[in-house]
Amino acid sequence: MPRITVDGHGFFYREQGTGSVALFVHGFPLDSTMWLEQIQMLSDVRRCIAPDLRGFGCSSPSTRPVLSMEDHADDLAALLDALGVDQVDLVGLSMGGYIALAFAERHPGLLRTLALVDTKSTEDAADAKVGRDAAAERVAADGRSGLATDMIGVLVAESASTWTRARLRTMIESTPAESIVAALMGMKDRPDRTAVLSNLAIPVAAIVGEHDVLSPIAEADHMAVSAGGTLTIVPDAGHMSPIEDPVSVADALRSLWAEV
Ligand code: MLT
Repeated sequence: MPRITVDGHGFFYREQGTGSVALFVHGFPLDSTMWLEQIQMLSDVRRCIAPDLRGFGCSSPSTRPVLSMEDHADDLAALLDALGVDQVDLVGLSMGGYIALAFAERHPGLLRTLALVDTKSTEDAADAKVGRDAAAERVAADGRSGLATDMIGVLVAESASTWTRARLRTMIESTPAESIVAALMGMKDRPDRTAVLSNLAIPVAAIVGEHDVLSPIAEADHMAVSAGGTLTIVPDAGHMSPIEDPVSVADALRSLWAEV
């Protein structure tokens, strides 16, 4: 797995394929392994790059008490600059989608297309913000396994295999507790970015699992309508549609990329 130092911070990223770059941004509190199937399936049409975000996966630990969506978006822009990449098809899942929207706001010239997977452009409701604080306290007090158990229950559809749930547990329990807390604070603070979508003049796709309870179909529809883009509902999948039904998600990405 290649490693690169950007502005003094070490980032690891997965890479497969050649040609135009697709950049895959993982969700919370996960890492780039969630994109393994997509990287493999799509490397015939794109140079697929999936970094571990600052403080996640194999990338260097973070010293920031809050990891904002803007911080991550700027990290990704700096990473692309360091790799000599000037335009990408950006794909973000959930927190990765929040980051992708911050990226679209701050670095619009770097975007060729945007795929928003199991995510939303709206901000946290008041009760969700309270829930973020409670989750952070719990992780600091009791560690990651309780969060993993709670999250796995809502991340995937009932039909998800034991292996899929085990894979999510590995990712969540491998993420540093301080990164989980900092990301919770960053997500809590994020603004509504629906207007960013309305102002984008590139192809946009919203992709969502039929049974996603964290970012339901209505949120995906709201993004697709705001961007004048497409909506793809992945049957029998939950919030982790790229893992639960990799073929359907890869097909939706191929269709989006065929527009440019
Ligand atoms: C994610 O999958 O990245 C999280 O569920 C996002 C969130 O907690 O809002």
